[in-house]
Amino acid sequence: MDLRPLDIHDDDLMSAVFRVVDRGTSLGREEMPRATEQEWVGGVRAPDSGERAVHLGAFVDGEVVGVATAYLFLLDNTDKAWFEVVVDPDHRRSGIGSALVARLTEVATADGRTQLTGGTKIPFDRVEDHPYRAFAEHHGFARSNVEVVRHLDLPVPEASLSAWADQAAAAAADYRIETHVGSFPDEHAESLCVLLGQLAVDAPTGDVVYEEEVMTPERLAERYEMSAAMGRETFETIALSPDGVVAAQSTLQVPLDPEGRDVWQWGTFVHREHRGHRLGLAVKTANLRAVQEQRPHVARVTTQNGETNDFMISINELIGFRPVEASMEFLRRV
Ligand SMILES: CC(C)(COP(=O)(O)OP(=O)(O)OC[C@H]1O[C@@H](n2cnc3c(N)ncnc32)[C@H](O)[C@@H]1OP(=O)(O)O)[C@@H](O)C(=O)NCCC(=O)NCCS
Repeated sequence: MDLRPLDIHDDDLMSAVFRVVDRGTSLGREEMPRATEQEWVGGVRAPDSGERAVHLGAFVDGEVVGVATAYLFLLDNTDKAWFEVVVDPDHRRSGIGSALVARLTEVATADGRTQLTGGTKIPFDRVEDHPYRAFAEHHGFARSNVEVVRHLDLPVPEASLSAWADQAAAAAADYRIETHVGSFPDEHAESLCVLLGQLAVDAPTGDVVYEEEVMTPERLAERYEMSAAMGRETFETIALSPDGVVAAQSTLQVPLDPEGRDVWQWGTFVHREHRGHRLGLAVKTANLRAVQEQRPHVARVTTQNGETNDFMISINELIGFRPVEASMEFLRRV
């Protein structure tokens, strides 16, 4: 077995890499949403000025059979690295995952990182004894957080959406709700970035303590470019305060392909000074409504939250999201 950096601009190689990732991450959870090749490769290739990504492949007889990436944050959280490791199901238990983790650990520690993190999706009833957890613990990682992944079937009845919108509007009469599709207005970009940066601090993240993320209008523009490269469109709903500040936001990633069924919920965040006005419900339901109206082909939304994130979970349960699997995160301090 041979480990080498991946040339992420080699189309044939990336098709083979995608097959490993798709087979490896969908094993035993085939009914869960899967990224398409365009989504996955588009995401890997998209530049993000806030992080450096190191991609490695494990090759047997010239074929890629394992893939690993270390994400090294550059503008904040520079003590941390996020690892992703996947081995093709036909090549497991032969030390490939271990070799990849060892190499990523060298890369991250040489870069001064002291908190190595990563995660995986597993069924609720295997949180204590899943083999992926055994693998992580074998390498000195410990469970740091468990999030609950939830699905919502679309469409949500229009009558429910308008009832929630009315309920939210009654508590937030002073705020204006706006939905932006595919691009975001420059005049509110700085203000939105404040919220996007604070999300990692205020959302519960278990034993890993994140610093505020440095989000800039440039990185926001990069995110929009990434979505487009993935064949997706960003639906961003915001609540504007009377003085024009973005007080709340919610982001959905929606496939443009009319065959695409799965929508991804990214963050929903209400600014600390604007909580208690049902703005979370307001932006979330307005965003869903816009997606249902404009992209009627989509059928399901996936979201995930920390087990202790009571406010967000209560909104999700009200809307009809149901738990489907656990997302387990790991931490190794070096
Ligand atoms: C987790 C994963 C990367 C392991 O890859 P791998 O190449 O099979 O791992 P290794 O052969 O290096 O295993 C090293 C050790 O981990 C533990 N381990 C790995 N798979 C295991 C399993 N199915 N059951 C129990 N222990 C296991 C064992 O201690 C093993 O050592 P041993 O084979 O000498 O007993 C692979 O199963 C995978 O791709 N999973 C899906 C993606 C994922 O969830 N990645 C993140 C995991 S935290």
